[in-house]
Amino acid sequence: SRTIRLAVVPGDGIGQEVVAEGLKVLEAALPADVKLETTEYDLGARRYHRTGETLPDSVLAELKTHDAILLGAIGDPSVPSGVLERGLLLKLRFAFDHHINLRPGRLFPGVKSPLAGEPEIDFVVVREGTEGPYVGNGGTLRTGTEHEVATEVSLNTAYGIERVVRDAYRRAQARPRKKLTLVHKNNVLVHAGHLWTRIFEQVGREFPEVTTDYLHVDAATIFFVTQPERFDVIVTDNLFGDILTDLAAAVTGGIGLAASGNINPGGEFPSMFEPVHGSAPDIAGQGKADPTATVLSVAMLLDHLGFAAEAAAVEAAVAADLAERTGTRTTSQVGDALAARVSG
Ligand code: IPM
Ligand code: MN
Repeated sequence: SRTIRLAVVPGDGIGQEVVAEGLKVLEAALPADVKLETTEYDLGARRYHRTGETLPDSVLAELKTHDAILLGAIGDPSVPSGVLERGLLLKLRFAFDHHINLRPGRLFPGVKSPLAGEPEIDFVVVREGTEGPYVGNGGTLRTGTEHEVATEVSLNTAYGIERVVRDAYRRAQARPRKKLTLVHKNNVLVHAGHLWTRIFEQVGREFPEVTTDYLHVDAATIFFVTQPERFDVIVTDNLFGDILTDLAAAVTGGIGLAASGNINPGGEFPSMFEPVHGSAPDIAGQGKADPTATVLSVAMLLDHLGFAAEAAAVEAAVAADLAERTGTRTTSQVGDALAARVSG
């Protein structure tokens, strides 16, 4: 029998509530002979106020010994913007080399899209997770003067681009439509853009069956709304991927359904699964949050750990639940219903 050692970081706001439901469904989905061992870590705003810490090295070292991490949400209005985002969430993604930030965009049957005419939406965004404008490479000059300057320099390495691009090609190759779209802005961001484009073309020679396409990010936002069915796999840099995946969530039923995986494919570090949404302090503690995004992230976690059938069962439970949704239910009612479907 196998034991899964899962680190759980509920974090702030609704993170607590949605993670509890994700764990319910995970327990229900795992085969009887698999033992789930969870360790909860108190990280986020509360810890920051109590101790001034965001992510101590000792906790980072402990997290590293786990098979995977389930994270709820990070961020609170009582903490200055950027402190927890950079000091905790991004620190985890960078320290554990989560260079594949996987974000599916799928419109489930029965879910209302704001788009006209029930489009078929089933794509996955492979967002680069450890480079780009997220690295914190920049600074300020002449602070407080009228000649103040701030830079935020995007870092793009051939190594970093090649590994995410190759991962995206492999995913495209494994899907029925075998289509990969590179999204960048190589008409303006010519230095990084040309490197991305060149590597995209080079790696593409290894995947002759994959059809490729290129879109500038601004044009891509139009097609997300007017022609989302044209996308299969999308590969893009960290910041474009951040923006596009919120748009993807908006057109596929909202942020309450959007799942993500921060993947370290080699398995040297634990991968981390989290809903795309934030901590939503305005509705925290009220049982109003939809745990579905977390449950779908749990499906990605299962798949990553080699439980493909169990992952499919969780997705099927979500699909069945979404197809029949009426009225309002509390966070735990949705979790209970999904867990029951998975066990049933
Ligand atoms: C996300 C979030 C994060 C990001 C923030 C909170 C650092 O928006 O997971 O999409 O920009 O990646
Ligand atoms: Mn985001």
